[in-house]
Amino acid sequence: MAGRIPRAFIDDIIARTDIVDLIDSRVRLKKAGRNYQACCPFHNEKSPSFTVAPDKQFYHCFGCGAHGNAISFLIEYDKLEFVDAIEELAGMHSMEVPREEGQHKQTPEQVSQIKADYELMQLAAEFFNQQLQTHEKSADVQAYVKMRGIEQNIVQAFQIGYAPEAWDALLKTLGQTKQAAHQLRDLGMLIENDNNRLYDRFRDRLMFPILDRRGKCIGFGGRILGDGTPKYLNSPETRIFHKGKELYGLYQARQNNRRLDRLLVVEGYMDVVALAQAGINYAVASLGTATTPEQIQLMFRYSPEIICCYDGDKAGRSAAWRALENALMYLTDNVKMRFVFLPDKEDPDTLVKKIGAAEFENLIDNAKPIETFLFEELANQANIDSLQGKAKLNELLTPLLDKIPPGEFKRLLSNKLNQTLGKADNSHLDRVKEAKQKQTMRNQTASTKATPVRKALAILLEQPRLAQTLAHMTDSQILALGQVELPGVTLFVEVLMYCRARENVNVGQILEHWRNNPNQVTLAKISAWEHHVTEENQEKVFLDIMDSLLSLFIKQRKEILMTKARMNLIQQNEKEELKALLKM
Ligand code: UTP
Ligand code: MN
Repeated sequence: MAGRIPRAFIDDIIARTDIVDLIDSRVRLKKAGRNYQACCPFHNEKSPSFTVAPDKQFYHCFGCGAHGNAISFLIEYDKLEFVDAIEELAGMHSMEVPREEGQHKQTPEQVSQIKADYELMQLAAEFFNQQLQTHEKSADVQAYVKMRGIEQNIVQAFQIGYAPEAWDALLKTLGQTKQAAHQLRDLGMLIENDNNRLYDRFRDRLMFPILDRRGKCIGFGGRILGDGTPKYLNSPETRIFHKGKELYGLYQARQNNRRLDRLLVVEGYMDVVALAQAGINYAVASLGTATTPEQIQLMFRYSPEIICCYDGDKAGRSAAWRALENALMYLTDNVKMRFVFLPDKEDPDTLVKKIGAAEFENLIDNAKPIETFLFEELANQANIDSLQGKAKLNELLTPLLDKIPPGEFKRLLSNKLNQTLGKADNSHLDRVKEAKQKQTMRNQTASTKATPVRKALAILLEQPRLAQTLAHMTDSQILALGQVELPGVTLFVEVLMYCRARENVNVGQILEHWRNNPNQVTLAKISAWEHHVTEENQEKVFLDIMDSLLSLFIKQRKEILMTKARMNLIQQNEKEELKALLKM
């Protein structure tokens, strides 16, 4: 881990993020007045009580009380660590997260090493891409590419290239110095033999650069031109390439779709590229392994639906089953997973060429829901017509059910299981329980008392720019208000001072500033609290409350100073202050 992320960067990233877009890409939102609504992704419900306020850059669930800003949402929903949530937002805006000096867990050398690694891999990708155009064999390679139906636009979009037929093409070009050569070796691009001689790993192959989700080249897959083995050669695991965590084509899919309604998982590089050529630009490939939990989590981060597209044969179904098992723990009610099994001897590449994009998409549209696939597979293993079969089904399904997070989907499966086993449907009871829970939480939320200070704070959180309307007051006057004896006034003054110093601050940034502060929850609650002051009245109400706070302060201060005077404890400067106060 690197050093601290500067506060200013966190502010900036929240200011750039629209929480509505962010949440909408994961939980479909519906406009409701000034706000947006959905069924809450954090608890189970039938009617929407999850609200996203664009002006507040804030979400709140009136059912379960979940609330927060863009960062909290990513932490809760994507199950990210704080730092990863910042990384994620930064990635969405193509920004690098800066780190403060000091307390580095990752040394500066390591940081610059990784940066240099990305640069070198990018140079390698550019070299191969250029060889595809200029190498003496380029006409043959281009003919192969053409034969596979790939046009120049897709060659460039995926930076496809050619690794020359030589032991040292890359070595000579990018590995001139010993240091560079060793770096290429560590990145899996060169192989070292027993005599410590280095040579190119990829030779005479069509090269597919593997990009991470920020578009950095981290590895390659290389296909032999024609027949031969191995058909594909892949980068080994390196310090920047972990194949179980990456997906080929994800970067391009995200680049080409503002919102990814679905992601199609296929098996090969060629499938991704061929589908893109056909205009189906939302396919990704896991890298020669079964789809891992990390990959599934990554996909659900960007899209609410994953459609796995596999061969219809035994191997394809077992790959699908493994993907299903790895997905169970991520199957909340706002995501979906479905399966398509292709006809015998076809893969997406061959099939889309045969039947065309429209027909292919039709197949995807009609993909099998996960529960259908699940019960089909289980039915193969347990004959539910017999008592033993039922017991077997129960035994197979129960551990799978346990992995699914609570929700409608889990309930659906367990009801289906119960029906099959002949037990009663208890979903009605579950729903009564849910309604009760909701009511309790609602009561808790409603208990926020409507004091004027609280109201002023709520309005300020909604319109932080109101802090700028107090030009007639000095900082020390505002700070002095903090001495007024009223509950909540200290926090109010703190927030006011914070906003006063930052002209375009929004509530998301304010809440971020108070993260891990004892007042964090109070602030979040107040910012979500329904204060019933209409937008056009807010400035007036806010200023009125400020006025009455000021009068109250004057009154309390006068009393203190007069008491001091009576007891002969008053200082000279306090005497002048009292004189001034008495004139007000
Ligand atoms: P396939 O054999 O289905 O390849 O392997 P493909 O994508 O259809 O390729 P074409 O159409 O023959 O060109 C699917 C994936 O499995 C991995 C690769 O990631 C490949 O894209 N694989 C396959 C290997 O890693 N090594 C191999 O030798 C073969
Ligand atoms: Mn193929």
